[in-house]
Amino acid sequence: MGVRIPQMVASQKIITAINEQIGNEFSAMLQYYAIGAYFAAQALPELSAHFDVQAEEEKGHALRFIARSTGAFRSR
Ligand SMILES: [Fe+2]
Repeated sequence: MGVRIPQMVASQKIITAINEQIGNEFSAMLQYYAIGAYFAAQALPELSAHFDVQAEEEKGHALRFIARSTGAFRSR
């Protein structure tokens, strides 16, 4: 007897939308990091840090979508 792994069934339309959203979240992350780098280069470290925090938040969204859609539930 093996371990029973719960399966989540989703339509291809939903899977495609989730994958697209994962890309959107990572894209937002990169844009926030770019903005943070710009402000760092302008000697504005507090603004830079603010956007770095936003970038991490977007990364967290992407990772949550990945975790949910792969069944690899992690607390974040
Ligand atoms: Fe997001």
